[in-house]
Amino acid sequence: MEGRESHRKGGIGMGARSEQPGRNVSRRELLNYAWLASLGFLLVDLGGMGYLFARPRFRKGEFGGQFELGRARDVFPPPGGDPIRKPKGRFWLCRTEEGLVVALYRVCTHLGCLYGWRSEEHKFICPCHGTQYQLDGTYIRGPAPRSADRFVIRLLDDQGNEVAATDEQGNPLELPDEDLLVVVDTGRLIRGKPRGVRYPVPT
Ligand code: FES
Repeated sequence: MEGRESHRKGGIGMGARSEQPGRNVSRRELLNYAWLASLGFLLVDLGGMGYLFARPRFRKGEFGGQFELGRARDVFPPPGGDPIRKPKGRFWLCRTEEGLVVALYRVCTHLGCLYGWRSEEHKFICPCHGTQYQLDGTYIRGPAPRSADRFVIRLLDDQGNEVAATDEQGNPLELPDEDLLVVVDTGRLIRGKPRGVRYPVPT
């Protein structure tokens, strides 16, 4: 009897405590809070990931992204002229004697040194182990296993439509019109052809 009394008292006591402002939080409520918190973290996480995937990985004008260079006539050297170095994009802009254009990655295909242009010899030479490349990046001699790697050149009209672009083999590109806008995409690297394999030259 006494036990039942005290039990009832206890029950009333607990009920009274649960209505007070500073009450103890029940286990179920705690689990609910924990669940809500996890859901919140998950949503923030998903939102962050969505943002990272939605935004381009590289901005325009930074290595890994696209370089908008202007009109072809102002961007490329004259046919057979000395290539133009673009340090920010890490490429050389070249125009062959036949008028084809190519954007060569500045890094040697041997062990990764930066090769340079020798105007007097009219070829690229790597200072590290002497690999040589022609103006269009074709391998000449030295320890490199292949021709120079290259980036995709895109030629756009004034409306932004792509008129021509470097093909998947990285062959030098014909320039249909000097007024076209030139974009070099440093996010699309094409490996140079193996030694002995030449790039086509228009006849
Ligand atoms: S790194 Fe260019 S020849 Fe070795």
